Amino acid sequence: MLISKELEQAINEQVGREFGASMQYISIAAYFDSEDLPQLAAFFYRQAEEEQMHAMKFLHYITETGGHVRIPAIEAPKDSFESAEEAVQLSLAWEEEVTRQINALMDIAVRENDYLAQDFLRWFVAEQLEEIATMSTLLRTVQRAGDNLLLVEDFLTRNPLPAEENEGAET
Ligand code: FEO
Repeated sequence: MLISKELEQAINEQVGREFGASMQYISIAAYFDSEDLPQLAAFFYRQAEEEQMHAMKFLHYITETGGHVRIPAIEAPKDSFESAEEAVQLSLAWEEEVTRQINALMDIAVRENDYLAQDFLRWFVAEQLEEIATMSTLLRTVQRAGDNLLLVEDFLTRNPLPAEENEGAET
């Protein structure tokens, strides 16, 4: 077995959080869908797929290192929002929290001299920079647009987010 019990448990918890993020982003996408804002909806549906991909990457790491997959119960996502800004703010706060979680996983891998895990986690460290940059850009755009969310729709039509360059990094 190439993974410690502590890291196995911590990564299992992260699998749950990534699936939880996926459900949260689907819930936000559905909110925008019902507000007739298709570009914002599409952005969050894409974001949800990315989170599912993150969850599966963690899950496969557990199986490949001989660990045991134990997906935890996942809390229901928030399903109502006062405004677009609230929904995007929540998403940015989530990404900042995930960054702390990834760093905590890396702390375990470093403490255990687990070079395999450090190598695996480095992809997520870089990914979080991209995720936070994307969500910060969207938040600023929503704040500048104020009540006229059609400006955000127009922005997303011209500048599809998240950046497609991430796709090449999937393994
Ligand atoms: Fe899986 Fe958006 O971090």
